[in-house]
Amino acid sequence: MKEKIQALRTQIEQLKAANQEELESLRIKYLSKKGEITELFSEFRNVPNEQKREIGQLLNELKTMAQEKINALRDSFVQSNAAKEETDLSRTADPVALGTRHPLSLVREEIIDIFSRIGFTVAEGPEVDDDWHVFGALNFPPEHPARDMQDTFFVEKNPDVMLRTHTSSVQSRVMTTQKPPIRVLCPGRVYRNEAISARAHCFFHQVEGLYVDKNVSFADLKQALLYFAREMFGTETQIRLRPSYFPFTEPSAEMDISCNLCGGKGCSFCKHTGWVEILGCGMVDPNVLEACGIDSHVYTGYAFGMGIERITNLKYQINDLRLFSENDVRFLREFEHA
Ligand code: DAH
Repeated sequence: MKEKIQALRTQIEQLKAANQEELESLRIKYLSKKGEITELFSEFRNVPNEQKREIGQLLNELKTMAQEKINALRDSFVQSNAAKEETDLSRTADPVALGTRHPLSLVREEIIDIFSRIGFTVAEGPEVDDDWHVFGALNFPPEHPARDMQDTFFVEKNPDVMLRTHTSSVQSRVMTTQKPPIRVLCPGRVYRNEAISARAHCFFHQVEGLYVDKNVSFADLKQALLYFAREMFGTETQIRLRPSYFPFTEPSAEMDISCNLCGGKGCSFCKHTGWVEILGCGMVDPNVLEACGIDSHVYTGYAFGMGIERITNLKYQINDLRLFSENDVRFLREFEHA
């Protein structure tokens, strides 16, 4: 026993470790539950009684010494790391992990950029708004079934205060505060009481466009939207307008673009029609102009509204809306170079 203790002492005195991992394996070798020193302690039972005192002392000394040696080696690492940090002036600064732009922000900026080239500026409005701005001014009469097209979240059960269901609410605000010519783009977040799934979410983002002036025609609307579609999805893109209904526009239409995956030939993405829907639009209903104090005999206007998620899905072939709000960095990093 004595010899074993002596042999371990000499070994431990000479211990060296090049890094933390090596040091940790030394600690395990000697001091862990199955370590060599711990084993000696269990053999201590068999030491004859008359030697117990002496051997016990030697064993305890060995253990303390091993612990001290390991601590000393550990301290030397910490110190040498600190010393390095202090002296190595040539080291580059700590790399900061850079974030990326969210795909919805990228697409929103692109939409704004495209329309700003034809004279549109950005207008914003509140996300919590009143009935008049969200519905009333936009020709949704009280109790009108068209209100059910957008399932609304009310604030504190007050039927007059709500989370806006569309950015068309900014139209009403701009038209009551500005005089034509008006040419604005209104990006923002909107809310609807929908169950969350791959295809629907209780909040999403829209961009509204509004142009009010003398002699604005449906042809102007069509041309602006064709320009947008080609800038956004490529010069080969075709558009088509289908008649539709919105309370605040007359006539109203929905716009499809030729499927940007198959080029219009038909694929599973466009359900073999060659077309995918991207927005709603129309001529501002004279009732809306009048409600906002604009003379509908002098002025006409067009409006359009699109979901930013929808445009992003088409542009980047993303098929699950939930990805946009889960903040999974692996998804977000995909847009690093977009
Ligand atoms: N506000 C409509 C919606 O959320 C979208 C829309 C359709 C806006 C037609 C418009 C428009 O300005 O003209 O479903």
